[in-house]
Amino acid sequence: MTQRRRILVTSALPYANGPIHLGYVLEAVQTDIWVRFQKLRGQECYYVCADDTHGTPIMLKAQSEGLTPEALIGRVNVEHRRDLADMLIGLDNFGSTHSPETKALCDRIYLALRGAGNIDKRSVRQAYDDSAKMFLPDRYVKGVCPVCGTADQYGDSCENCGSTYTPADLKNPLSVVSGTTPVWRESEHYFFRLSAFEQPLSKWVKSGAVQASVARKLDEWFSQGLRDWDISRDSPYFGFEIPDAPGKYFYVWFDAPIGYLGSLTQLCTRTGLNFDDFLKADSNAELHHFIGKDILYFHTLFWPAVLQAAGMRRPTAVHAHGFLTINGQKMSKSRGTFITARSYLQHFSPEYLRYYFAAKLGPGIDDLDLNLDEFTTRLNSEIVGKLVNIASRCAGFITKNSAGALSTALPEPELYSAFTAAGESIAQAYETRDTASAVRDIMLLADRANQYIDLRKPWALAKQAENAAQVQSICTQGLNLFRVLMIYLQPVLPGMAAKVRQFFQESNWTWADAASPLLGTTINAYEPLATRLDPQAVARLVAPAAGAVAPATAPDTATQAATAAVEGNLISIDDFLRIDLRVAKVLSADLVAGADKLLKLRVDVGELGEREILAGIRSAYDHASLVGRLIVVVANLEPRKMRFGTSEGMMLAAGPGGKEIFVLSPDAGAAPGMRVK
Ligand code: MSP
Ligand code: ZN
Repeated sequence: MTQRRRILVTSALPYANGPIHLGYVLEAVQTDIWVRFQKLRGQECYYVCADDTHGTPIMLKAQSEGLTPEALIGRVNVEHRRDLADMLIGLDNFGSTHSPETKALCDRIYLALRGAGNIDKRSVRQAYDDSAKMFLPDRYVKGVCPVCGTADQYGDSCENCGSTYTPADLKNPLSVVSGTTPVWRESEHYFFRLSAFEQPLSKWVKSGAVQASVARKLDEWFSQGLRDWDISRDSPYFGFEIPDAPGKYFYVWFDAPIGYLGSLTQLCTRTGLNFDDFLKADSNAELHHFIGKDILYFHTLFWPAVLQAAGMRRPTAVHAHGFLTINGQKMSKSRGTFITARSYLQHFSPEYLRYYFAAKLGPGIDDLDLNLDEFTTRLNSEIVGKLVNIASRCAGFITKNSAGALSTALPEPELYSAFTAAGESIAQAYETRDTASAVRDIMLLADRANQYIDLRKPWALAKQAENAAQVQSICTQGLNLFRVLMIYLQPVLPGMAAKVRQFFQESNWTWADAASPLLGTTINAYEPLATRLDPQAVARLVAPAAGAVAPATAPDTATQAATAAVEGNLISIDDFLRIDLRVAKVLSADLVAGADKLLKLRVDVGELGEREILAGIRSAYDHASLVGRLIVVVANLEPRKMRFGTSEGMMLAAGPGGKEIFVLSPDAGAAPGMRVK
C-alpha cells in the first residue's frame, strides 16, 4: 500500500476590515474541494486559515468607527467564521494573526533571520503626515502623475500611463488621511536580505512548486534582480513590535504568512499534532498554499526565503488562481457587483455556488466569470435536471414497492464497473485542481445513468405487479450509480452528500467505497435534494443596495477620502440618469415590531401608484409627524426583501445617523409623481 500522505493546506488570509465576498469564496471553495478530496482519499490532511488583522487600513478603519482595532477585528472574526462555515468550508482551524501564537512565531523567525545575518538596518525617507502624526504608506499619498500629469494618482503608480514611482515623485502630493501636504522624514527600517536567496529560490521554483505560467512570471522578477525587503513600519501601527526595536513594528506582510503557522500551532495544541512534523527543514509532510494571482510575489519569493532563512521547510507548492468577475465585470461596490458571501447565502444554497465554481475552475490562473444566467441554467439543468433526477426517479419504487429494500444483485454490473473505472481519472483531475474536468466527467456519467433509466422505464414496468422484481433491480442499479456519483462529488457538495449517505443509511464514505455497490440493504425515504433556481431571484444578487437610508455610524472625512481614493467612485451621467427620482407623499408611517431602526412608509408616487418603503429613520423621526409630508424617493429600485418585509423603493435623507437624519423634502408646490431633476 502506498503511504498515507500528511498534508497541510492554507487559503490566503482575508483582511479583517471587510466582509467575505464571492472572490474570496472562490479561493476558499477551491481550497476546500482539494482538502475534502484528500480526506476522502484517506490522506491525513489539515486546512488552516486566519484573519489578516494588522496594518494601516485596519488601524484607520477602527479609528473611523470609533473602535479599538482589537474590537474591530474581534467582530469581523466572528462574521468571517460564520460566513465560511455557512459556505461549508471545512476549516480545521481559523485563527487570527493577532494571536499569541503568531506573535511568538514572528519573534522566533525574526530572531533566527537576524541571528543568521539576514537583517539589515537602513535609513528610509518617507512621506509623513504631520497633522495625523504618522508615516504614510504609498497608497495613502495622492497627487499628480510626474510622467503624464494626470491628477489624483496614488503614490506608487499612475492608472493613466502605468508608470511606477515613489510618493516623492508625485507633484502636489496630499495625504489621503488628513488632506494636508506631507513632509519628508527619515527613519530607521529593518530589511530582510531577499537578494541572498536568489539561487535557492530559483531552484525551488524549478522543483515544480509553482504552475508553469507562474514560473514564467517569476523568471521576469529574477531577471530584474531581487531587492531586499523592508519588513518594518513606524509607530503608530497596528501590529507586533519588533524585538529590541521600540516603536518599530513588523510590516503586515511579514506577519501575515506567519499567521498560517500561528493557526497551525492552535490546531496542534488542540489536537496533539506536532508543529515540527510539518515545519522542520526535512519534514516529509506537504505544505500547500492556495492564493490569488495578485499575491504571488509574497508567496513565491518572500515567504519561501523567510522559511528557509529561519531553518524551516519551504512550501511544497503554491497554487494560484485567477480573479472572479461578475457578469464579465470586476467586482465593484458602485456597480452593485460586489456580492458578499452573506448576501448570497441569504438567498441560495452554498452548494449551488460551490458546484458552479467547481465546474469552471481549472489548474491555471485565468479569471473566472460568474455569469448569473449561466449559473441558473447550469444549476437547473445539471444538478436538478440530471444528477438529482436519477435518485428521484428510482427511490420511490424501492420505498413503495419493495419496502425500502435494494435488490441483491445488479442487473448490469458492467455499467456499474464503468462508473468505478472512471474513478481514477476523476481523482487525477481533482488532484491537479482540474475540477472542471472532474465535474465534466462526472456529469457524463450522470447522462449515462439517466439514459439507462430512460431505456429500462421502471415507471412503465411498475404498472404490472409481476414486474416487481425487475423494477426493484433496475432502481437498485440506478440508485447505486447515483451513489457513485455522489461519492465523487462529495468534495464539491458535502452537504448534499451527507443527505445522500443518510438516505443510503451509511455513516461515512471513502473514495474506495464507490467500488462496492450496496446490495440487499435498505434505504430511507427519499427527500428532495435540490430545487430549481428562479432566474429573477438570481438577478437580484447584483441589484444595488437598497433599504437603509443612513449608515449606522458616520465615517470621518479621512476614511471617506480614503474610500473614495480606493474605489474611484465616479459614475457617468448615464449611470445617474438611470436613477428615477420622484416626489412622493407619505400616506402612512408605522413602527415595525422588532426593528428599532425602521419605519414602514406607505407613499403615493402619483402616476406610479403607491409603494411601501422600509426606511431606517426611526431614531430621528416620530412616525406620526411624517404623514402628509412630501419626500423624494428612488422609484426604480428593484423591490428588496428585507427581514421585516419588502421595500419597494428608497427615500432620500442626509446626515450621519442617529438623531441626525434629515429627510429631504421638495417645496410645497411639488406633486406626487413629479420627476426630480
Ligand atoms: N491578507 C492578504 C493575504 C495574506 S496571506 C498570508 C490579502 N487579503 S485579501 O483579503 O485581499 O485577499 C485574500 C485572498 O482573496 C487573496 O488570495 C486574493 O487573491 C483573493 N481574492 C480577492 N479578491 C478576489 C477575486 N475577485 N477573485 C478571486 N480571488 C480574490 O491579500
Ligand atoms: Zn501618468
